[in-house]
Amino acid sequence: MDEEFDAKVTPWEVEGIIDYDRLIYEFGVKKISKREIELTREVVGEVHPLISRGVFYAHRDYDVFLRKYREGISTALYTGRGPSGNVHLGHILPWIFTKWLQDKLGIDLFFEFTDDEKFLYHRDFTLDDVRSLTRENIIDLISLGFDPGKTHIIVDIDDIGYLYELAVRIAKKITFSTIRAVMGFNSSTNIGMIFYPTLQIAVCFLPTELYGKETYVLIPAAIDQDPYWRLARDIATSLGYPKPTQIHAKFLPGLGIGGKMSSSQPETAIFLIDPPELAREKVMNSFTGGQPTAELQRKLGGNPDICPVYKYYEMMFEDRDDKLRERYLNCKGGSLLCGPCKSELADRVAKFLVKHQEIRDSAKDRIDEFLIRNKF
Ligand code: TYM
Repeated sequence: MDEEFDAKVTPWEVEGIIDYDRLIYEFGVKKISKREIELTREVVGEVHPLISRGVFYAHRDYDVFLRKYREGISTALYTGRGPSGNVHLGHILPWIFTKWLQDKLGIDLFFEFTDDEKFLYHRDFTLDDVRSLTRENIIDLISLGFDPGKTHIIVDIDDIGYLYELAVRIAKKITFSTIRAVMGFNSSTNIGMIFYPTLQIAVCFLPTELYGKETYVLIPAAIDQDPYWRLARDIATSLGYPKPTQIHAKFLPGLGIGGKMSSSQPETAIFLIDPPELAREKVMNSFTGGQPTAELQRKLGGNPDICPVYKYYEMMFEDRDDKLRERYLNCKGGSLLCGPCKSELADRVAKFLVKHQEIRDSAKDRIDEFLIRNKF
């Protein structure tokens, strides 16, 4: 833990109150400025609220990616999931944005499920555990409406043939001391984990191989995955590939105090397969930025800036900027109390889950349409 800021952000652990500006400095990424927002408007035709509201807030060469796309150079999207549990609302935040980009740009998405990573990382996981979680997670992904013609799912263990040659070429470029420093490994880390990063990096270069031409890849993800991209970018040129580009999101918080939504804290996370009534209860029990009593709230107002309930509106459950602003001001001014604010969010979350779970039932039979092995 960083004592000063009381936060920790690695690909495997995110804890504490995160200082996002400090991460920009620590990771050496760039803040998304008006320039990138305007470029998005020019190239994509519109700006997603997740960008204009500063949720996707940092990047590496996102502007280069957009320019290459505009010039008609081959481009693709890449993102992924480590199937360590059920999918929660936090995971789908980057996926919602990725789908928007895919719809607008009409380009392929390569989606990696790292069953190997999660098998290696979690001491108690069997291969059967990760296999069944992968299947369930795939169903959640495709239920979000991705285009099967343009979305190619790679499951590491089953589809290793697509990745292995790239992985060994990558592995030869990365020393043990580099991987130890970048990933924070130590002498008790198993050797599978030490090799695993090559597979997450391999997908950055796979589109160039599959299309047989130089392809610029954009990776939308939360900022915790950045260490992989740092390594990938360092070795890309020497392997003959364009540097992969990234757009980094902040984390959807859990319903408690501080920290991201995480599967390891199920009471403060909303899973896509949660019964809607349970999700409603979780929201109603959420920590808020409100005062201890309604009377004090009316007098002093609440603090939406530290409130996960407000963040859920901002990051996922309120499309309209004017309504969001109104909620912010009413909370601060004390005219909006936490009870009704939570209850409205609980309704929206429950409605989303009911719809998602209906689609999920039919998505079960559509997995094959998305698997890379049925296409390339
Ligand atoms: P995983 O399964 O930990 O996370 C999947 C994706 O969800 C993002 N994420 C979140 N975003 C917003 N709010 C949260 N609370 C939150 N929690 C997680 C992660 O940043 C990620 O984008 N090793 C990876 C799997 C992977 C991958 C990739 C991810 C392989 N290739 C390419 C992104 C891009 C993992 O375990 O992700």
